[in-house]
Amino acid sequence: MIKSNGKTCVITGVTSGIGEQTAIILASKGFNVIGIGRYKKRCEKTLKKINRVSDSSQILICDLSDQTQIKLITEKIKKEAISIDILINNAGGIFLKRILDKQNIEMTWSVNYLSHFLLTGLLVKNNSLSNNSKIINVSSIAHEKATINFEDISFTKGYNGMKAYGQSKLAMLMWSYSLANKLQNKKISVSSVHPGIIGTRLLSNNGFISPLLNLGLNIVGRNAKWGAENIINTLNSTDNNHCYYHEKKIVESSQFSNNIKYQDQLWKLSEKNLNFTFNN
Ligand SMILES: NC(=O)c1ccc[n+]([C@@H]2O[C@H](COP(=O)([O-])OP(=O)(O)OC[C@H]3O[C@@H](n4cnc5c(N)ncnc54)[C@H](OP(=O)(O)O)[C@@H]3O)[C@@H](O)[C@H]2O)c1
Repeated sequence: MIKSNGKTCVITGVTSGIGEQTAIILASKGFNVIGIGRYKKRCEKTLKKINRVSDSSQILICDLSDQTQIKLITEKIKKEAISIDILINNAGGIFLKRILDKQNIEMTWSVNYLSHFLLTGLLVKNNSLSNNSKIINVSSIAHEKATINFEDISFTKGYNGMKAYGQSKLAMLMWSYSLANKLQNKKISVSSVHPGIIGTRLLSNNGFISPLLNLGLNIVGRNAKWGAENIINTLNSTDNNHCYYHEKKIVESSQFSNNIKYQDQLWKLSEKNLNFTFNN
């Protein structure tokens, strides 16, 4: 198990499923966990669970679909001179109907991918990530059949929730590869992981049919602890830069994800979408 020595780990999507379980395991190993969640009540509930194993954790409230809120929490982290050893970009959802965020960006693209690009970019810019820190991006097997719809990233035409989800998870993977290259000079490693098919609340953003959809996922999926263990395994592995893990095994990701031209195109598009220049 990775040595904690009072190290700090930031996890997005800490209020449920895989993120919550990961936070509990890391806190039990002595990490100071800084969770990120959007609803105060859900954050308090999760913090209570984490505090049962260790009381050196906190949760910052931030709706990741709101770029202003992301900027505010990164400022807070900078002000408090928090040095982050592990960053786990885990939050996500499946949106079967096309909805837009505050910035008029399609929600799947915004929450699952762009928010993490911005959060990580700001933490790097502010020197909040320590040298030798590790970044784990939670992707999915759903990336395999996906492509990036560069001409219409927000699917203004022909929206399909599963297609948008696959695209966002592919983007997480492609961005991980580019980020690993860019952060080499800081000795920050970046890997991504498919945590398994896990019974969680992943389909909660879909109105009255959400409980039924989540029930289906819970029937076919394994428990959240399994997903968390797969993330922890990626952290523990010595081979954890520029790698893609399918559960506990390093595998080759899709051909599309490995295309460097597309990776560069995605990077430029992300900066444009966010009106933000990544600077390391
Ligand atoms: N479950 C699977 O089979 C599976 C398979 C492959 C990959 N994954 C990936 O695993 C990650 C974790 O998902 P999960 O299965 O554990 O689902 P989950 O139980 O629904 O957890 C998702 C987390 O993301 C948070 N979140 C969603 N929208 C947010 C927003 N706008 N601002 C801040 N936080 C937000 C949720 O917060 P709330 O509690 O407020 O809703 C929740 O804490 C996701 O990236 C997912 O794509 C899951």
